[in-house]
Amino acid sequence: MQGLLEQRVVIVTGAGSGIGRAAAEVMAREGAIVIASDLRLASVEETAQRIVDAGGRALATCTDVSKLDQLDALHDLTFKEFGRLDGAFNNAGIPGDGLALADHTEAGFDALIAVNLKAVWYGMKRQIELMLPHGGGAIVNTASVGGIVGKPGLSVYCATKHAVIGLTKTAALEYGSRGVRVNAVCPGVVRTAMVDTVMAGQRGAEDEWSKLQPIGRMGTPEEIGEAVAWLLSPRASLIHGHALVADGGLTVA
Ligand SMILES: NC(=O)c1ccc[n+]([C@@H]2O[C@H](COP(=O)([O-])OP(=O)(O)OC[C@H]3O[C@@H](n4cnc5c(N)ncnc54)[C@H](O)[C@@H]3O)[C@@H](O)[C@H]2O)c1
Repeated sequence: MQGLLEQRVVIVTGAGSGIGRAAAEVMAREGAIVIASDLRLASVEETAQRIVDAGGRALATCTDVSKLDQLDALHDLTFKEFGRLDGAFNNAGIPGDGLALADHTEAGFDALIAVNLKAVWYGMKRQIELMLPHGGGAIVNTASVGGIVGKPGLSVYCATKHAVIGLTKTAALEYGSRGVRVNAVCPGVVRTAMVDTVMAGQRGAEDEWSKLQPIGRMGTPEEIGEAVAWLLSPRASLIHGHALVADGGLTVA
């Protein structure tokens, strides 16, 4: 039986941990050739090794997405190795710092914008340039339920994720007729290192955060990876410009 992404060349950023690692593994299981990139080389090499050990194909590369020359290197490497790009999951991100809006520093603001927003724009720019001459491709950007609603203590984080949805919808309008399908995924509370960091030191946080989602538990990175693999696949051919919420019902409460 054919996988969802058979022979498709797909870039995943933030693939050293959490949602990015899980998505890379799901996609490889579905037949994709994964270019797994992350700021942390050892972590992303581990992701690639896990894929290879499971019988899949992956290449690990170190990329700080906040540096445009490193994003160039990632896309140039992909084209040099494989001659094309079929899919991309722009996922690398950093959390908010829990400060109220007036307490944010300029440095904190700039760091969130650089990783969570500017890198998504520049990644998409390079991906679209690579995809257009080959008849198109598919892109998924990681937004968040923080791209749909606000959350106290996460003003700048939420601003970046709202903006990612804005980039997604606009790119869908601009490039859909030329074969590039663009969507976003909006995870709710997913148990990853990022969430563990935010919960650290808050007594009862695990229970409280689980109850935020009507399903009564946090999501798993694999559950988001499944959604992303489908969105990137031809089986989602009519899904375009959409921000897919995967939050166990959090935002319908
Ligand atoms: N976990 C959640 O509940 C949740 C909810 C909504 C959205 N998200 C989003 O999901 C994405 C992945 O988060 P996660 O929960 O898997 O977190 P995570 O911390 O487990 O993984 C994030 C990965 O991104 C990498 N990264 C950070 N800065 C980078 C940079 N400058 N360049 C390259 N890589 C970098 C980290 O090294 C790490 O491997 C993020 O965009 C996050 O905002 C997460």
